[in-house]
Amino acid sequence: MKIKVKKSSEVKKPINEMRLVISSSSANESFARTAVSAFVAQLDPTIEEIADIKTAVSEAVTNCIVHAYRNTIGQIYINVRVFSGGRVCIRIRDTGCGIENIPQAMEPLFTTGGSERAGLGFAVMESFMDGLKVRSNLGKGTTVSMEKVIARRIKYNVGA
Ligand SMILES: Nc1ncnc2c1ncn2[C@@H]1O[C@H](COP(=O)(O)OP(=O)(O)OP(=O)(O)O)[C@@H](O)[C@H]1O
Ligand SMILES: [Mg+2]
Repeated sequence: MKIKVKKSSEVKKPINEMRLVISSSSANESFARTAVSAFVAQLDPTIEEIADIKTAVSEAVTNCIVHAYRNTIGQIYINVRVFSGGRVCIRIRDTGCGIENIPQAMEPLFTTGGSERAGLGFAVMESFMDGLKVRSNLGKGTTVSMEKVIARRIKYNVGA
C-alpha cells in the first residue's frame, strides 16, 4: 500500500490571499478594517465573526498609527490569507519603533499611551480572535499575526 504524505508546503498553501499597503494616517483605519472584512466575506462569515475581525484589525492598525509611527507617517503592511477549512490568517506589520517588552505590552491595562489609552488593544485582539502572535524588533518594527476559524454553516435554499 502506498500512502501519499503531504509536504508541509502543500498543507499550508492558502486558497486565497490579499496584500494591502496603507499609510499610517488615522483616516485609513476604517478603510483597513472594511477592506479586510470585505475580503473575508467570501467565507460566508456570520455578522458576529465579521465584527470580531473588524475590531481586531482596527486595534492592530490603530497601534501602528499611534504607537509605531507616533508623530510620523509610515507604511502599514496588511496580509490576509484564507486556508481550506475556513482558517483566516491576518498579518499586520509596521516598520516603526518596535516594542521593548512584548509580554508586558500584552498585559491588559499596560499602556505607554498615557491617559488617552486604556491598554486593552492586545487583550481585545486575543479575545476576539482564535490566535494572536506578536513579534517585534526595537527600532525596526512589529508584526501582529492573528487567526480565526470561520465556522462552516449549513446553507438553506429558501423556496427551493
Ligand atoms: N505596533 C506597535 N508598535 C510599537 N508599540 C506598540 C505597538 N502595538 C502596541 N504597542 C505597545 O503596546 C502597548 C499596549 O498596546 P495595546 O493596544 O494593548 O494598548 P494601547 O494601545 O496602549 O491602548 P488601547 O489599545 O486600549 O487604546 C502600547 O501602549 C504600546 O506601548
Ligand atoms: Mg492599542
